[in-house]
Amino acid sequence: MKIGLKIIVSFFLIIFIQVKLFCGEGMWLPHLLNALNEKEMKAMGMKMNAEDIYSVNKGSLKDAIVHFGGGCTSEIISGQGLLLTNHHCGYGYIQSHSSVEKNYLKNGYWAKTKSEELACGGLTATIISRIEDVTKQILNGTSSNMSEAERRPIIEKNIKVLTPTIQRATHEDVFIRAFFNGNQYFAFITVTYKDIRLVGTPPESIGKFGADTDNWVWPRHTGDFSLFRIYAGKNNLPADYSEENIPFTPKHFLPINMNGVQDGDFTMVFGFPGRTNEYLSREGVRQIVEVQNPIRVTMRDHALKIMDKYMRVDEQTKIQYSSIYAGIANAWKKWIGENQGVKFTKGLDRKQAVDEEYTKRVNANPAFAEYRNILSDLDKHYLASEKYTAAKEYYAEGFQRNLQLFNFYSIAKKLISTQESKGNEEFEKLKKDYLLDADGYYADYQEKIDQEILATLLEIFHKGCDPSLQFPELKLQLEKLNYDYSKYAKHIYDNSNYATASQLKKFLTMNVNEMKTALSNDPSWIFYEAMTPFIKNEILVKSNLHDEAILDLRRRHMESLIKVFPERKFYPDANSTLRVTYGQVEGFQPRDGACYNSKTYLDGVIEKYIPGDYEFDVHPKLIDLYKRKDYGKYAENGRMPVAFIASNHTTGGNSGSPAIDAHGNLIGLNFDRVWEGTMSDINYDRSICRNIMVDARFILFVIDKFAGASHLIDEMKLVYPKSTKSRKNKK
Ligand code: ARG
Ligand code: ASP
Repeated sequence: MKIGLKIIVSFFLIIFIQVKLFCGEGMWLPHLLNALNEKEMKAMGMKMNAEDIYSVNKGSLKDAIVHFGGGCTSEIISGQGLLLTNHHCGYGYIQSHSSVEKNYLKNGYWAKTKSEELACGGLTATIISRIEDVTKQILNGTSSNMSEAERRPIIEKNIKVLTPTIQRATHEDVFIRAFFNGNQYFAFITVTYKDIRLVGTPPESIGKFGADTDNWVWPRHTGDFSLFRIYAGKNNLPADYSEENIPFTPKHFLPINMNGVQDGDFTMVFGFPGRTNEYLSREGVRQIVEVQNPIRVTMRDHALKIMDKYMRVDEQTKIQYSSIYAGIANAWKKWIGENQGVKFTKGLDRKQAVDEEYTKRVNANPAFAEYRNILSDLDKHYLASEKYTAAKEYYAEGFQRNLQLFNFYSIAKKLISTQESKGNEEFEKLKKDYLLDADGYYADYQEKIDQEILATLLEIFHKGCDPSLQFPELKLQLEKLNYDYSKYAKHIYDNSNYATASQLKKFLTMNVNEMKTALSNDPSWIFYEAMTPFIKNEILVKSNLHDEAILDLRRRHMESLIKVFPERKFYPDANSTLRVTYGQVEGFQPRDGACYNSKTYLDGVIEKYIPGDYEFDVHPKLIDLYKRKDYGKYAENGRMPVAFIASNHTTGGNSGSPAIDAHGNLIGLNFDRVWEGTMSDINYDRSICRNIMVDARFILFVIDKFAGASHLIDEMKLVYPKSTKSRKNKK
C-alpha cells in the first residue's frame, strides 16, 4: 500500500514536472538544440539526436529545409529535388502560368514529365549550409550602455568587415543577423538555387478550400499544398535557368510517414518564421492590442465590407477583387483573433506579473542596479509615442494599404523623381515600361470601389486621428466641402491623372513639364504630396526619438531578462531565420464548454460543400472518390484524413514548413494557426495556441488518386514507422 502510494505520488510528480517542462513555446535555433532542447524533445518522444536535425559534418534534416522565395518555407521530399510547399506560397507562380485557356488556379496542373515542369522566373530556393556565432566580432567596440545611435555605425562596420572573411565556397552566400534584440549575432552561410519549376498544384477548390471564411479557422479542410522542383547545373550547384539544368540531388530529403498521427505524438516544425515579439513588457503588448489593432481592424472592416458588397453582386468583381480582398483580410482576421486571444488568456495580466517579478528581482539585487529604470523608461516612451503610433496606423491603413489609388500615385511620383534624379533617358524608358503594363495595374481595380473606400476611410481618419496630427491640406479641403467625405473622394478621383487606366495612359504620353502642370491641378497628387512630408516632419521625426529609445531599452531589457530569470530558457524572437519548434498533436478548448479534436477528415469537406460557391465548391472527382471511398493506401481506418493541429509555436513564414515526426519523417505540411491562438506572436499560451497542418497522406492521396500523378509518388520514399506517442506528456 505504502509502496503503491509512493509510486502513484512519484508518477504524478513526473507527470507534473514533464508537463511543466514542456510548454510548447519557443522557436529554437537548430544548431543550439543539443545544449538547450534535445533532452526535452526526447522526453516528449523524439527518437532522433540533435545531430540528426542539424549537422555540418553529415546530411541532416536541415539540408531538406528550404527558404521558398524568401518568404515561405518548403522542404525537399525526393532525391530529385522535389519541393513541397503551400498552395498559398506558390500562388503567385501558379497564377503567372495561368490564363483563361489554361487556368491552373481553377483546374490545377500536373506535369506529366520533367519537360512539362514550368520555370518560375525570380523564384529562389535557399538552403542553410552552416550557422556561426559571430557575436564577439560584431559587438566589438560597443558597450551595453551605449545608445542605439552610437552602436549602429560600429555594428554596421563590423558586419561589413567580417562578412567577406567568413569561410565559404564560391557558390555560397553569407549574411549576418541580430538576435535577442541585438544582444547576439549569427552568420548564416547559405546556398541559393535559382532555377525552380512548378511541378504540380491541385485546383483552388482543394488548395484554397474554404478561402477567407475558413482562413485562420479550425476545424479546417484545406489541401493547401503545391509542388515545385529545384534544378541545378550539371555539377549540382546553383545555376540560372537553362534547359540543360538537371534536377537537384539534395544531401537529405524527408521520407513520408504513411501511418499518420495520433493525439500525443511528438511533432516538430522546421522552417523560417518571420517575426514575433515575445518579450514585450505589459505596456508594449497593451499598445498593440489597445492602440494599433483596433485602428487597423476598424479601417479594414470598412474597406472589406465595401469590396464584399460589390463582389457579392457581380461575378467579374469577385474575380477581380478576390486576391486583394484575401490579402487585406488575412492580417485583419489575424489581428481580431490576436486581441481576442490576449483577452481570453488575460495576456496583459500575465505580462504584468512578469514585469512585477522582474522589478522585484532587479530591485533586490545590487548587481542588477543598472537595470532598475528600464521598465519605467520603456513605459514613459511607449506612452509618449502612443499618439504617433496611432497616427501612423491611421495614415497607413487609411490612405495607403487599403487603397489602390496610392499605388497609382506612386507611379506618377516615381516618374517625376526619376526624371529629376536620372534625367530624360531613364524617364522615357520608365514611361515605356509603365505604358506596357498600364492595363495590368488596373486589372483588379474599379474606380468606384476605391473611391467609396477612400470616402469611408477619410471619415474614420478625420474623426479618429489626433487633430494635431492631421495634415493641413486635408483639413482645409474638408472644411471647404463642409465635411462631405464622399464629395471630397469624388473630387479626388474625378480630377486625377491616374485614377483609371486611360487617364494613366494619357498621362504617360506627356513630357515632364506637361506632367508637372497636370499634377499641379490634381487633387490626389496634392493630397499625397502634402501628406508625405507632413508624416515625415510632424510624426516620424518626433516618434523616431521614442522609437530609438525603445529599441535601445528593449535590447537592454532582453539582456537583463536572461540574467534576471536564470531558471528560464530563452529563445530569440523570429527574424526569418531557420528555427525548430516542437510540440505534440493535441486538440484544445477554445472557450467554455467547447472542445476541438485534433484531426479532420474528408467527410468534413463534404459537409462544408456548397455547389458552385467560390469558397466551398468541391471538385466532382473528389466527390466521386469520397463516395467510392477510393482512398488506396492513404486511408486511416477507412477514412481520409485531411488536416491536424498540434502545439507547435509557429508564425507567418512557417507556411510550407514540414511537420516532422519523432524519427525525422514528414507527417504534415504547416499552413496556418487557429484563430483563438494567433496571439502566439506576442503571448504564446499552450492552452489555445495550435498550428494547422495538412496531413501528408491527404497530399499523397490528391497527387495519386485525384490527379493520377503517381509518377511523383514513385520518386518519394514512403515509410511505415511505429507510433511514438509521448504518453508521458499526456495529462
Ligand atoms: N492565414 C494563412 C497565413 O497567414 C493563410 C493565408 C492564405 N489564405 C487565405 N485565404 N488568404 O498565411
Ligand atoms: N499562414 C502563415 C504563413 O503564410 C502561417 C501562420 O501565420 O501561422 O506563413
